[in-house]
Amino acid sequence: MLKKIKETADFLKSKMLTQPRVAIILGTGLGNLAEQITDSISIPYGEIPNFPISTVEGHSGCLILGKLGGKDILAMKGRFHYYEGYDMKQVTFPIRVMKLLGIEILFVSNASGGVNPAYEIGDLMVINDHLNMFPENPLRGQNFEELGPRFPDMHEAYDKNLIALASEIAAENGIKLQHGVYAGTQGPTFETPSEYKYYRVIGADAVGMSTVPEVIVANHMGIKCFGVSIITDLGVPGNFVEVSHEEVQRMGNAAQPKMTLIMKEMVKRIG
Ligand code: HPA
Repeated sequence: MLKKIKETADFLKSKMLTQPRVAIILGTGLGNLAEQITDSISIPYGEIPNFPISTVEGHSGCLILGKLGGKDILAMKGRFHYYEGYDMKQVTFPIRVMKLLGIEILFVSNASGGVNPAYEIGDLMVINDHLNMFPENPLRGQNFEELGPRFPDMHEAYDKNLIALASEIAAENGIKLQHGVYAGTQGPTFETPSEYKYYRVIGADAVGMSTVPEVIVANHMGIKCFGVSIITDLGVPGNFVEVSHEEVQRMGNAAQPKMTLIMKEMVKRIG
């Protein structure tokens, strides 16, 4: 695994003219932030050695190097989902490569279903913490000490200072922000009413099919994380309705400008 990570990092380093500290993963239907990246080069995943290829509808799948808010960044447009059939090592491979590229801070975004009854469709939820509901942990198996410890601490998986910065920027711009716990599931089914209720009972505010594997691996390597969920549908009693991928994309798309503004401003202030 280490050899492959190094090989991919070396390939990307040969294309990099800058040294970004921040990387951003753009989730389902949330690629518009990419349009704000200037001075950019875009590398399709298919051209990157050892990268899996993103298959899900709505993901164009490329790595973008450029500037956001005047700061150097690396962005992944499209991610690798467990439900697509990739194993956990493949899902999190790009995060391993990021570490070797010198990334110190990871921003993740996703679409999710709100299970907190106070939430509304189109809300942004800053992820305070997560529940790993995937059937496995990406760190299962041999540990590479040079990457991180066997038993990583997860008491602050999402960096408190970055959360505070996001709150500050949201307040300055009149953007309503929710703060909550994200339950990451394997999908690809959306939840039954009973499953939505269950996630609420065990402490989740939103549920989605990504993010948790990447954040675990980033924490393993000491990369600070910040995550935002766009609430694209609701799974709350009295309001269980049909969910579709198209609807998730449509609602995600509508709420993206708020997320883009916050992330761009954050990069500007920390990058
Ligand atoms: N459940 C799981 N994943 C999701 C949802 C949901 O309701 N909405 C968007 N992604």
